[in-house]
Amino acid sequence: MALSSLRQKRNEEYLLGVNQTELERLRFQHGVWKQNTDSFLDGLKIKKGWKCLDVGAGPGFVSMDLRQRVGPTGEVTALEPSELYLEWLARESKRRRWKNINTMRGNAETAPLPKNHYNLIFVRWVIAFVPDPAKFLHPLIESLKKGGIIAIMDYWYEGLSLYPQGGAFDGAARAVRKYYRSGGGDPYVTGKIPELLRSNNLKVVDFTPTQIAGGPDSDIIEWAHRFFVPHLPLMAEQGNCSKEEAESMAQDWLAHRKNANTIFFSPIVVHIAGRKQG
Ligand SMILES: C[S@@+](CC[C@H](N)C(=O)[O-])C[C@H]1O[C@@H](n2cnc3c(N)ncnc32)[C@H](O)[C@@H]1O
Repeated sequence: MALSSLRQKRNEEYLLGVNQTELERLRFQHGVWKQNTDSFLDGLKIKKGWKCLDVGAGPGFVSMDLRQRVGPTGEVTALEPSELYLEWLARESKRRRWKNINTMRGNAETAPLPKNHYNLIFVRWVIAFVPDPAKFLHPLIESLKKGGIIAIMDYWYEGLSLYPQGGAFDGAARAVRKYYRSGGGDPYVTGKIPELLRSNNLKVVDFTPTQIAGGPDSDIIEWAHRFFVPHLPLMAEQGNCSKEEAESMAQDWLAHRKNANTIFFSPIVVHIAGRKQG
């Protein structure tokens, strides 16, 4: 997608936009982070028949993984504001002949969710974009059953770096943090979540920071490439860094991709789980 249409789309929607290129980026991202996500889901001991809500589901890649875990007797609802993504998921569920993936169009803050209903609510890479995490979480917690779990994966935006150090890309984490804040989000949101969960009568049962690293041909560096190449110019446009800094970061990035000794370190992604108390 051309930069101009990405720009136009973004003005109407949340920070990363909604379009076919972003859908493909989310698919690729899901594959790169699948092992990491699966290890989080494994620890939640999801049972057949559970009712799950995938919040900010995007095209529903995790919704489909949850459907595999809960089986035909379970229920998975994908809550998502984008019609494009929900239509894609509905087509994909039909192709698989799955009848128990529901789609709900809306935002976590305002959707008409049932009370005391879900065994598991899953939220990956959404809460760092929202302006008010407490307002976002409150209705979700109300829709959890007693004993149910809310599981959140998101950034503690530290750790993003390249070896060898010393180039312009060393400034990238700072620019991304500003970019998230300029969209109304919080790149350190995961630090606040345990306190928010406890104040809503949940017990924090997991808080695990994770990170992935890889060389110049790894999937993890390609994942970052698909974010930085289109978004560095937009960060400059929004004043999160200067145009010259964005260009130098992009050049440093491309030079690292040609160096066999490069190591890319992802930002820290935290797995957080809270259980609703009786
Ligand atoms: C980076 S994508 C992540 C998609 C999916 N969770 C995944 O991990 O593949 C963020 C998604 O959150 C959605 N979103 C943004 N704000 C939201 C809100 N307030 N409530 C629910 N979803 C939201 C966006 O439309 C987008 O599809």
